[in-house]
Amino acid sequence: MKPRLLSGIKPTGNIHLGNYFGAMRQFLRLQDEYECYIFIADLHALNQIHNPAELSQNILEVAKAYLAVGLDPQKVTLFRQSSLPSHSELCWIFNSITSMGLLERAHAYKDAVAKGEKSIMVGLFDYPVLMAADILLYKPAVVPVGEDQQQHVEMAEDIAQRFNHLFGEVFPIPKGIIDPEMKTVMGLDGRKMSKSYGNVIGLFEDAESLRKKVMSIKTDSRTPEEPKDPDSCTVFAFHKLLTPEPALSELARRYREGGISYKESKELLYESLMNFLGPIQAKKAELDANPEYVRQVLAEGCTKAAAIADRTLEEVKKAVGL
Ligand code: ADP
Ligand code: TRP
Repeated sequence: MKPRLLSGIKPTGNIHLGNYFGAMRQFLRLQDEYECYIFIADLHALNQIHNPAELSQNILEVAKAYLAVGLDPQKVTLFRQSSLPSHSELCWIFNSITSMGLLERAHAYKDAVAKGEKSIMVGLFDYPVLMAADILLYKPAVVPVGEDQQQHVEMAEDIAQRFNHLFGEVFPIPKGIIDPEMKTVMGLDGRKMSKSYGNVIGLFEDAESLRKKVMSIKTDSRTPEEPKDPDSCTVFAFHKLLTPEPALSELARRYREGGISYKESKELLYESLMNFLGPIQAKKAELDANPEYVRQVLAEGCTKAAAIADRTLEEVKKAVGL
């Protein structure tokens, strides 16, 4: 029996390199070692998207992204959160044992307060509780996430402990894991890559748009001859993700010795990016031509996931006396 893994991504638009290197790559690396349940957090996306056509389109895009980057539906159970009512039901049960104080510490909520947002939705405040339900229904050993989600996973641990304390040992305590090689992927402007900053490189962007983005990455004004510091250069940070060895070390040497222009470095980066994205985009095109296959993968995933989630929910209801 393999240990179980659970994770998900919100379908809020354009999947980007930050999502890939921060979250998806771990799923890929772990899919042989763990029994994997990976879902599309569409109920969570409803906090941000109130356009039905856009939401359903995004949901399919995430499903295709999972498959296009190489998750194998024979090994990984892929499903939509909203197909399983147990997620929302367990969220409600957890709501009744979670203090407002815990949720007031969540980064996403604190950011919204700090920005002075006038009407913060209950869904945003309650986000970590739904996430705890997503996780704990599957009793996973590990939850691989990007660094920014670690706090939510810790809240799920708190909620599991509180539940067990009140009602008996139902939930093993899950563990969040972050790719040791990867913390936060920087965007085109040197800030964290994020849809909300408009600084992303999308996995499915066309060549022309990718080229423009790469050529527009901000650099300092050093001339081609001057030595440059690879560690403080945004272009080089992308090379570290995308350019394989030994080309990467060779490039670092040319940076330090001088003799390479930022323009040349960007040209090389564009090549690396296209080499990386080429096979992913080709697979995505196949999936675009076969939406029925994608739907079928999600339907089968839903059946498999429900078998586990429904069992846990029954256990929970019994424990609390419902
Ligand atoms: P965004 O910030 O673009 O809205 P999401 O919040 O939807 O991205 O993130 C989905 C997943 O990808 C999460 O697990 C998150 O930790 C990871 N992720 C997103 N952006 C980055 C980044 N710049 N670096 C590392 N991981 C990231
Ligand atoms: N909050 C995560 C994100 O923004 C998505 C998510 C929802 C998730 N539920 C989860 C991730 C449970 C891991 C486990 O990407």
